[in-house]
Amino acid sequence: MRIAIFASGNGSNFQAITEAIKSNKINGTIMFLFCDNPNALVIQRAQRLGISTIIFSPKDFSSKREYEEKLLKKLNEEDIQLIVLAGYMRIIGSSLLQAFPNQIINIHPSLLPKFPGLHGIRDAFNAKAKETGVTIHYVDDGVDTGPIIRQEKILIDKKETLETLEAKIHQVEHRLYPEVLAEIINDKERALHDKKTSTN
Ligand code: GRF
Repeated sequence: MRIAIFASGNGSNFQAITEAIKSNKINGTIMFLFCDNPNALVIQRAQRLGISTIIFSPKDFSSKREYEEKLLKKLNEEDIQLIVLAGYMRIIGSSLLQAFPNQIINIHPSLLPKFPGLHGIRDAFNAKAKETGVTIHYVDDGVDTGPIIRQEKILIDKKETLETLEAKIHQVEHRLYPEVLAEIINDKERALHDKKTSTN
């Protein structure tokens, strides 16, 4: 499966996925990392891991539509079959959603539908929730609203600080995202294979 990863920031999930692919735990190839922030740490991680990187930001375009059209062109040129969002801080617009139905996946650091948006971990912590977690879901046109693929709960201890909670969540993410992607890709490959054999 030909994969593109979109990321805007630190890139620890990007790294976990890339390492899982390199050790053959996921049956796929990362064709490129797309990053919308030229200063993001994820770019250095990609260089270290030998993943080619495409970098541009909406600021370089006169509209979001033009930005996404350029992105779409790159995705089509590389024949991308799956888009994996890993800390990509933008809403996916309609042109990309239409071009990749059920082919865009996101990870969010809360038990959706609770605590959607940019600050899932902090919002759960400040709300004094007893538990939070990690959600992996398909992307639709809402903010963290698409169909849920997998969730894992994480308890928030009485002595928890925001920092310890963040660390716990990221630890789960780095295990869960590669695991779930491996399953999704196997299912998609099987479906493609079945389709091929039934039309032959
Ligand atoms: C993760 O917590 C992920 O759930 C959220 O953004 C964060 C990205 O972290 N969507 P990193 O850039 O992968 O380290």
